[in-house]
Order: sequence, then C-alpha cells, then structure tokens
Amino acid sequence: MPEADGPAGRFHHLRAAGASVVLRQRGDALPEILHWGADLGELDERGLTELSRASRTVLGSDTLDDEPLLSLVPEASRGWFGAPGLSGHRAGRAFSTRFGVHETRFGEVAGEEWIRWLARDEHAELALELELRMHVCGLLRIRAELRNEGGDVFDLDALRLALPVPRIADEILDHTGRHLLERQEQRTPFSAGAHLRESRKARAHDGTMLLAAGVPGFGFESGEVWGIHLGWSGNTSVRAERVQPRGERVLAAGELLLPGEVRLESRAAYATPWVYASYGDGLDALAERFHRYLRERPEHPRSPRRVSLNVWEAVYFDHDLDRLRALADEAARIGVERFVLDDGWFLGRRSSAAGLGDWTVDPDVWPRGLSPLADHVSELGMEFGLWFEPEMVSPDSEVARAHPEWILQPGDGRLPATSRSQQVLDLGNPDAWDHIFDAIDRVLSSTGIAAVKWDHNRDLSEAGSPGDGRASVHRQTRAAYRLWDALRLRHPHIEFESCAGGGGRADLGIMERADRLWASDTIDALERLAIDTATSLILPPEMIGAHVGAPRTHTTGRTHDLSFRAASAVLGHFGVEWDLTRASDAEREELAEWIAYYRSSRELFHRGRVVHGDTGDEALALRGVVSPGGEEAVYRVAQLRAGLSYPMGTLRLPGLMPSARYRVTIDGPGAALGPSKPGPPPWWETGLVLPGAVLARFGVQAPPQLPEHAILIRAVAVPAAPDEP
Ligand code: DGJ
Repeated sequence: MPEADGPAGRFHHLRAAGASVVLRQRGDALPEILHWGADLGELDERGLTELSRASRTVLGSDTLDDEPLLSLVPEASRGWFGAPGLSGHRAGRAFSTRFGVHETRFGEVAGEEWIRWLARDEHAELALELELRMHVCGLLRIRAELRNEGGDVFDLDALRLALPVPRIADEILDHTGRHLLERQEQRTPFSAGAHLRESRKARAHDGTMLLAAGVPGFGFESGEVWGIHLGWSGNTSVRAERVQPRGERVLAAGELLLPGEVRLESRAAYATPWVYASYGDGLDALAERFHRYLRERPEHPRSPRRVSLNVWEAVYFDHDLDRLRALADEAARIGVERFVLDDGWFLGRRSSAAGLGDWTVDPDVWPRGLSPLADHVSELGMEFGLWFEPEMVSPDSEVARAHPEWILQPGDGRLPATSRSQQVLDLGNPDAWDHIFDAIDRVLSSTGIAAVKWDHNRDLSEAGSPGDGRASVHRQTRAAYRLWDALRLRHPHIEFESCAGGGGRADLGIMERADRLWASDTIDALERLAIDTATSLILPPEMIGAHVGAPRTHTTGRTHDLSFRAASAVLGHFGVEWDLTRASDAEREELAEWIAYYRSSRELFHRGRVVHGDTGDEALALRGVVSPGGEEAVYRVAQLRAGLSYPMGTLRLPGLMPSARYRVTIDGPGAALGPSKPGPPPWWETGLVLPGAVLARFGVQAPPQLPEHAILIRAVAVPAAPDEP
C-alpha cells in the first residue's frame, strides 16, 4: 500500500478492482478521506502530496481560522459543523472530543487490506480504535471501538462513521416501503441539510438497505454512484448530509442508540457495526462489489441452491399429516428438493395468538412427533426444513406464564402493545437465552433437519430490560447474534434463512449469518421484480429466496400466468409456496419444466455477474446474469405494464465480452408460449449471432409482450470460425 509521510500529512492509498481510496492524516488528527471513488492509478509519495495540495482550499469569509477537517469520525474540534461522529458525555462534561492518533497499524487478511488507527483523548479519557478495510473487490468496510478510560461513566449517544462524496453526487437514492412492499426506490436532490433515515423498531420494512448518492440520473449501467450500508439488525441511523457553507457532502451511518442505552462503565467499550461502502460507475458496478465480497467468504452458501417448497401459503396453520404428505408427494414428483414446514407445529400454535417460545412439538397435532412427515420427506429424496421464531414469545404460552420477567418492557410494570399477539423475549437475560437455545437445539438434534427458517414477526417497541428498566435493543441485537452463532456452530450442516415478516431484516449483520433471505411476504411476481432487484443491490441472487405462488396472489389478489410467476423467481433461490395438490396436471407439468430449467441453469444464475439494462422505458425491466468468464448469459425481459411505445424497439443486452460473438435465443419453458400480438420479431424462431459489443450497444428488437409477462433470452458465445482471426 503506497504511503507518504511529510509536512502535508501522512497518506495511504488503497486500490482494488477499479476503485481507490486516499486517506490523509494531518498532524495527529483522525484520518480523513481525500478521495473515494474511481481508481486514481499509481501515485507515489510526491503524487500523493500533490494530490493533497490540490485539495487544500482557502478559507471562506466569517469562518473558523483553521481549515476544517472531515475525518471518518467527524469532530467539532477539527472544524466540523455537521452531525458529529461521536456524541456523548461524562455527566455533562467531555461533550466535545479531540482525538489524537498515537499509533497506526496495517495488514492484510483474507483478501482485505486493513489500516487501524489508535487514538486517545486524554481530557475526555476516551480511547478510539478506528479500522478501515478494503477488499480485493474494492468494497470498503469501516468500524470503530470506543473505550472509556476514565473512572466514571461515559454516556454514549451516538457513534457514526462518515464518508465524503464529491459535489457531483447531487442525487440521493434510497428505499422505503412497508410490509409486503419493501424497498421501493426514492430519489431526491442532495440539497443542504440532512436526508435522514432512522429505524427505531429493529426491523426495516420501510427502511433502506442502501443509501447512495450519485451524478444526477445515474442508472444501473452508468453514472458514478457512492453508497453505504450499515450491517446492523437493531435500530439504525443513516444520513446523507450536505453542510454549508463549503457544501461538503457525506454519507454517514451508525447504530441508533436509545436514551441511556449505552452507558460505558470504566474500562468498558462499545463497538460500532460495520459500515460498508461501495463505489461504481452505475449501480450494477456498486452492487457487484457487495456480491463479490459476500461470495468470497468461506461460509458463503456454495452448494447448488435447492428448490424449496415452503408450506405457509399452501396450508397456513392447518397442519394435518395426510395433507402435508400429499403435498410432499406432489412436490417431489415435480423436482422439489427441500420441504419446509412453516409456522404451526409447536405447542399450542393453532393460530398466531399462542405458542411462541414453547419449542416442543405439539402432541395434539403431531401425536407421533414430526418424524412421520420428516421421514416421508426424506424417503422422497427431499431435505426437511423447519420454522422457528426464536426471539419472540406469546403471552399465551407456557414460557410466558412461567417467566413473565423474560419479556422486554419499558420498566414501569407495563408491557408494550402486542403485535401479532406477541411480545419479545429478553435474550439479554442469560436464563432466557439458555432456555431458548436448549429448546431449539433439542428439536434440531432430534429430527433430521437440514434447513431452518428464522422468523421475527414484530417490531421492537418500548424494548427495555425487565431487570433494570433500561432500553435494551442494543443488548437484544447482540444476544440474538449470539444465538444465531451458537446454533450455527452446533449445527453446521443446517442452512439458515432469515425472515422478519419477509424482508424486515435484510442487513449484513444478519445476512453474514444466514444463507438465505425471505425477501418479502408478498409472492406477487410483479412486486417481487422491484423488491428483489433492490435487495440485490446488496445481496447476490443465490441468497434471495423467491417462490412461485398460487395463480391468484394471496397478498395482492393479482392473477398471473405461471410463466410470469416462474420467470420472476427463477434467477433467485428458487422455490414454491403453493398448494400443489390443488394445481392442475398442466400447471404441475409446467412448473416441473421450470424446476428442471432452474436446476440446469442455477450454476450460472448463482455464480454469474448480475446486470440490468437501463431500458429507457419504465414499463420494461431487463435483468441478466453473465457467467464469470462472460461465455454465457441469461436475460429476463419483463413487461411491467402496457408500454407507451409499441412495438418496444431495441433492447440492449449488457455485460458480454465485446469482441466475442454470441448466439442469442429465447430461453426457458416460457419460450413455448411466445410473445403477444402482433407476433414475435423475425429473430425469434432462428435466433441471432452477433458480437457482444453490438448486443450491448445496439441490441435486439424486444418481443412485444402483454403487461405482467416475461421472457428469458440466452446468449452463448460461439467459437470463432476456423478462418476468423
Ligand atoms: C411471516 C413469514 O414471512 C411467512 O412466510 C410465514 O413464515 C409467517 N410469518 C408464519 O407465521
């Protein structure tokens, strides 16, 4: 890592995969980012010093006399008037810190270069350890740890990390939504002040996974864009802030701490979650860094993503062995590989009104335990999966009756309002934690279980510790992570799916522990196109569970052809959530074809690079996946609604090797159905052979389709003819 040390400061330049970050440390101040974005190329000591000189400004009128310094933890003592990185006090004192770095360390571990700065504020009696990592894929990760070195308590209100983005980043993108409609894109100008997104309920159906800022109009394929993600499953705060008069723009993130939630006793420390930061020319390039980073983790799910059948929308709480066996028979017949028994199997759980926390099989419904079903599933050659909601408790449960003191509450004897008739178990209480761990561990050890769906169906409100009445979301989040980690360690062969009423908990705090995300409780194919696309700005498609539901979607009442339902789900971790015993023979046969197609293509879908087309038409969504070597790609062209242009015009297929020639054909079982009137374009029957550059820059005529339909297109590189150069 090139470094320079001189009167202008100390510099570090990290470069990877077309991105670079230049850090400067002036005097003993905490490091500041001089540049984060496109690779600046090699810069020697002189180059870095000149870069620094180029960045220095004159002071404006009526300002502080020192040039302000925007460090990773911005401080008022260095001239920063935006939201401070650290906010806290020692009984009202030590409200403003001035950290001095006394040691800098470097290293590299598993493809990540890291720098660690150790700093101290003698007056405030605080020590800060700041760490920045750059992965070989160009993804940055930053975190900090604050330690109280004083003899009395330091009350921490916030510890946020900030990254500057250049002034050309004038448009903000983030997501909002609700249960059943998560991650809907919103764009706003990056104007003066703060664009603040906070989550105070430890779930975020309405929250954003990504906060990005880019050149106005940035799209998937082009336009410089910078984005951050907070890997934390508790309360969160992310902000895009533009501070006048100099107009600095920062993206900042940290845990949202409730009043008094983190009171650091003498020698105690608080560690922030990781803030992940990615830059790209276009959102696809930004997302690719997240995908590469996640895919290179040793624990990343690499085995073929098995076709799952989840029984929830097929039977809901109606658990009947014969009915479920019949469903399993149909599932196995069409090629399903995993059968997941959802909510309703445990003590007293005949509806959502009771039973949470009592993780033993209900003898009334399952007199011989789960084995008759699990064995049947296994005899059919499928894996068996089971649903839990470990962090929750129903007031109507054995555990709540025995231990009312295990329920999170504000501390004045009141319980928070119920939600879905449930409360939250205080996992920060070691007795409660042990009880839940033991109960779940017993079930996982006794039945042949290969997959766990881990649900979390209520927001945390007034979540205080029953013991001392203090806000407890931070403690609860850490305790939940410990439960995930302990159960994973104990059952390493089991795959875990994260679900929080669908996509309410999709952050990397949880997803670095889970193999799959149930991205939304809606299986509406149309809604899922947008939800899954937004989710895949962070998560690669193999981690995003996507199911084919019943013809009439339960959550929206829309009716879709099977080809659209299947094409919408097939690029993700494919599954089925439909009572197949009620499907017609023709439907089961068609679904079997889709399953066979998925199984033969999933290697490409789940290892390839995800690309989207900026189609220029809001009615048309194009998403593709290109094999790592670029030899093959599959594109999905979805007609979201009736388009204004008809026929649609040409459609560009991005991401291929520019000089290789590709055979382009219609792909997948839906191909047989063909497009709507006035019929297919001339290339439909025979396919086409064109170079990647032509496909990316010129394209092919888009087949006209009815609204809420989709087709797949495959491009396969063809060997050059013998006389070709
Ligand atoms: C919400 C989930 O997202 C559904 O898929 C299902 O598991 C229900 N909870 C069960 O209660």
